[in-house]
Amino acid sequence: MRRYSRITGTGSYLPPRRLTNADLVAELATQGVETSDDWIVERTGIRARHFAAPDVCSSDLALEAARKALEAAKLQAHEIDLIIVATSTPDMVFPSSACILQNKLGANGCAAFDVHAVCSGFVYALTVADAMIQNGAASKALVIGAEVFSRILDFKDRTTCVLFGDGAGAVVLEASETPGILATDLHADGKHVGILCVPGHVSGGAVLGDPVLKMDGQAVFKLAVGVLEDAARAVLAKANLTEADIDWLIPHQANIRIMQSTARKLKLPMDKVVVTVDQHGNTSAASIPLALDHAVRAGKVKKGDTLMLEGVGGGFTWGAVLLNF
Ligand code: ACO
Repeated sequence: MRRYSRITGTGSYLPPRRLTNADLVAELATQGVETSDDWIVERTGIRARHFAAPDVCSSDLALEAARKALEAAKLQAHEIDLIIVATSTPDMVFPSSACILQNKLGANGCAAFDVHAVCSGFVYALTVADAMIQNGAASKALVIGAEVFSRILDFKDRTTCVLFGDGAGAVVLEASETPGILATDLHADGKHVGILCVPGHVSGGAVLGDPVLKMDGQAVFKLAVGVLEDAARAVLAKANLTEADIDWLIPHQANIRIMQSTARKLKLPMDKVVVTVDQHGNTSAASIPLALDHAVRAGKVKKGDTLMLEGVGGGFTWGAVLLNF
């Protein structure tokens, strides 16, 4: 009998410090950086973001989200046999945030590693976990996106610092006789490294280069809307389904205009798109599982619904996962 994987629990966590656009505008003004609630809302749809306290790392946010997902799946941490954390803001250069999280959870002994695909990280991690469950390498996986992007922002650059926030989202993915995950599709094109990157690195005990986020927003926008449509069509074709079969589109929460454009191309009304970017900004790898968990807990996404998850981000990377919830 074929083995599939299925999401059996979701969880998410946003750190308590919440800054509305007005709060951020006031804070940036003290440093001579001018922006406005109107500009941020009109161009991005973002109304607030959460920033983690200085001593809080991605694994701490991941821990809170993971505990909620485990509770929803009615599992204990020691029953988990695989942990994948998608993050571009790990606690340390090494070991992985997944290993640090594993110890905090008390799930010691299971396989644990990070996936680094920036804002596509969660769809990459989910695809890897699905493959490992299908081939028998794992049976009960925790797949998490967790980020502290506030650590890599340049608060003098208004074109980027208003866009991002911190948070985590998690799912428990279990082996199942029925799908579950129906199709996955991943891509990358390294020739676009320069349009979205944090070019600094550690060498000889010092940070060399510029360790804050650089983005060519318009180039990212153009690429994102094209590849998100392609990835969606690819997974639909693999699963022999059409746009009409999608109950919920859960795209990477970067910008409402990218989501609207993707929905338009797929001929989906916006009331079939899960939108939470207004509440937490772009949380990179955390944004898809965060949005999924919010929609599940709000009673929107129900068991049996067909979900299209889509990520796009630095690399350039992109991908989609089509699943039966
Ligand atoms: N407040 C006020 N004005 C601003 C701000 C700000 N925060 N930022 C830029 N501006 C100004 C610019 O200086 C420019 O002024 P000018 O016309 O006088 O020169 C004007 O606003 C327009 O700037 P643009 O860059 O052309 O604005 P645009 O409409 O392209 O919007 C944005 C910028 C929101 C970044 C858009 O390009 C975008 O959404 N890109 C995609 C970004 C994204 O989603 N990235 C994440 C995806 S991948 C990942 O998640 C890591």
